[in-house]
Order: sequence, then structure tokens, then C-alpha cells
Amino acid sequence: MNESVVGNGEVSTGHMNQRARDILMSNDLGGYTVPNKNVYPFQWNWDSAFVALGFAEFDIDRAWKEIETLFDAQWQDGFVPQIVFWQENDGYFPGASVWQTGKTPATSGITQPPVAASMVRQIWEMDKSDKNRAHIEHLFPKIMAWHRWFDKYRDPLNKGLVVATHPWETGRDNAPEWDEPAAAVDISAIGPYERRDTLHLDKKMRPHKEDYDRFVAMVEYGRAQNWDHKTIATEGPFRVVDVGMTMMLIRANKDMLALANEFDFEKDAVEIGNWIHRAQKGVDFLWNDKIGAFCSKDLISGRSSGIISSATFLCFYAGVGSDMQRASVSRNLEKIATTTRFLMPSLLPDNPRFDAMRYWRGPVWAVVNYMISKGCREVGLVDLSERIKLDTAALMKQSGFYEAFNPETGEGTGGEDFSWTAAMWLHWAGK
Ligand code: GLC
Repeated sequence: MNESVVGNGEVSTGHMNQRARDILMSNDLGGYTVPNKNVYPFQWNWDSAFVALGFAEFDIDRAWKEIETLFDAQWQDGFVPQIVFWQENDGYFPGASVWQTGKTPATSGITQPPVAASMVRQIWEMDKSDKNRAHIEHLFPKIMAWHRWFDKYRDPLNKGLVVATHPWETGRDNAPEWDEPAAAVDISAIGPYERRDTLHLDKKMRPHKEDYDRFVAMVEYGRAQNWDHKTIATEGPFRVVDVGMTMMLIRANKDMLALANEFDFEKDAVEIGNWIHRAQKGVDFLWNDKIGAFCSKDLISGRSSGIISSATFLCFYAGVGSDMQRASVSRNLEKIATTTRFLMPSLLPDNPRFDAMRYWRGPVWAVVNYMISKGCREVGLVDLSERIKLDTAALMKQSGFYEAFNPETGEGTGGEDFSWTAAMWLHWAGK
């Protein structure tokens, strides 16, 4: 019998741990980790933050390095890019020559969910040694500058919410919440381009051509504005308040506040406290009474998406909402738990746009599950929290460390040997 398989036919935890570590080490290109060698051969922002948690389980210095390398690419105004092109690789489109941000290192011109603060705090909680204190002192002002950038450029309503200017900023690239807002984006002038994602992966998992044309048009728009973030966020063709980024930023600010208090950064603590205070009320702007949940909202049309996605359930992680709102969201969650084999589908299976294998229209992502599960535990939804963790572990044991998973069958979707999936096993699901 294969040693890695235990009596009941399951892969042993020891084997899974080893496999997960091997994936992180083999995707480590020296100071940063690629999400997947073929599909995503550069450094991605929120991927690196989650990946650091995986490294922290066996090499804490390497964990800090991952986040510090990301912040080495921070722009002067505090912006931290979605992608850092540390070296050339033509396996991905759009590459540095398409973005043309004119920075060194080359980066894309959009950002991604600000989860770094939360992961930094988590690593600090794992080991409060003097050596790690120095890393916090080094990173804290950089993260602060990024959060100030969000405050300055991405909160035009002054409510503590986050406006996304490209679907890729949300990290949920192809979620149906972006369908209507993106449909209004003019694609008549886009130049010819050649996708690379469909060379590596089955078309049925990836966005349709119409979606991709719009993604490209939005990149071309930003480039035409020389990546002037003020203009892009106030006049751009796509401006949607993303419920996911908003909840993650609120949580990140709460984690920053905890660090600021612990490290006596008093002035920062006051500033962060104000952000949190404003956002706790501001989220009402996203509340959709008909659906009974917080939903993304298009600033251009003023319309709520009316869609429950996995991001909806991050309200517990952010710790926001009245008792009534929380009760309503947890009723929605319990309903999905009884009808879905593996939690948390990125879109509810009863939505007509649900597609079990296609990007952000059905599949389960381990990193989102981690945040939802953590939030559920914190608000006392302990059984649901545990169920989400067990489902995540079961998916990985059944199919390996895929990018995402089919919520009905457990089949892997997207890239194989994926860094953040392996990291989530090591730090959370495999424990
Ligand atoms: C896809 C995901 C995004 C992620 C990236 C790299 O674009 O939608 O969230 O950061 O892949 O893993």
C-alpha cells in the first residue's frame, strides 16, 4: 500500500503537509512566490499575503520576505500593484509592455484586495519575538501608506467603502457582479491581442471573449490616463463599490488598529479609528433589503448587483452590520449550507449564471473560505465555521492543491499546484 494513503483511502496529513511545502518552495522564484508557474508567472498582490501565512508555518523569515518583496514595488503615493513583473515571461497576457506604468520594477496599474495587514498581524500573533517586531516596524508605515491611498483615491463617497476600477482589482475577476457595469464599457477601439490563459487552461474554466475584451478596454483606458488614479476613479468607465474589497479593507484596518495600539503608534491609531468608524456606518450603502445581504453596487448606474456571492459572507470577517443584518446574512448562509456539497461556492447554485467550473461563477476558493470561516467563528457561527474548514480540507484531499474547486463534485478547476491553496492547507485547513 502507498504510505501516503491511510486506512480509509484518504491521503495522510503528513503527505499533504509535505506536498504543500514542496509547492510553495517550487513556486518560490527567490523572494517572491508565483501563484502558479504556467498561468501566473509573476508576483500577485493578495496571493503573496496569503502565501506568507503558509511560509510562516515552517520558515517565518521567508514569510516576511514575501510581503516585503511585494512592498518593494509600492509606488511613491502608497499604491501597491496587483502584479509585479520582476522578470520577463511571455506566458501571461497582459504583460508589462501592455500596462506601461513606467515603474521600476514594472507593475500593473491596478491594485488588489488589501489583505496584507491582516496576514502581517496574523504572523505577528504566531511569534511575537524581537526579530519579528522589527518586521512590523518596517512594514507598518508602508501598509498605512497603502490604506491612505485607498482613503484618498478609492472612497469618493467618503463612506469608508472601496471602489474598484477594474474587475481584476477585486480579485474575483469574472464574478457576475461585474457583468452589467462592464457591459457599458466601450470595446470598439481595443487593439488586437492574444490571450495566454486559454493556452494553459480549458476554455470552459476561463472568462468568455466578450468579458476579456472589456478587461482589455479598461486596461487601455487606464494606460491612456497615464495611470492617474484620481481620474480613473472619478471618471473611468468602470466604477463599482466591491463588497469584497470593502469588507477586507475594514478588517485590515481593524488589524492595523490592533498593531498600532500594541506598538504605540498613537497618531496612526486615531486615523485608523476614524476610518473604521466611518465604514461601520458606510456599509449600509451596500445593504440590499430585498436580498437581505450586502451586495456590490455600481456607482455609475447606482444599481445594486442584487447578487449573493462568497464575498457577501465577508461581513462577519469585517465585523460589521446590525443584529438584523447579521441574522439575515446568516440565514442565507445556512440555506446554502444545506443545499451545497462543498462550501463556499463563489456564486449561489440557484443563480442562473452559476457555472460550477468557471472563474468566480461557482467554484470554491480556499482563501475566501479561510476569511469567511474566521469571521463566522468570531461572531459565534461556530458550526458553520468548522463546516467551511472541513469542506476546504476535503476538497484538497480529494483533488490536490488546485486553484479552485467545483462546489458540487469537488473536482479541481484552474491551475494545479497553486501557491495560496497550499498555504491555506498549511496554515489552516490541514490543522
Ligand atoms: C486570478 C484570480 C486572482 C488571483 C490571480 C492569481 O486572476 O482571480 O484573484 O490573484 O488569479 O492567483
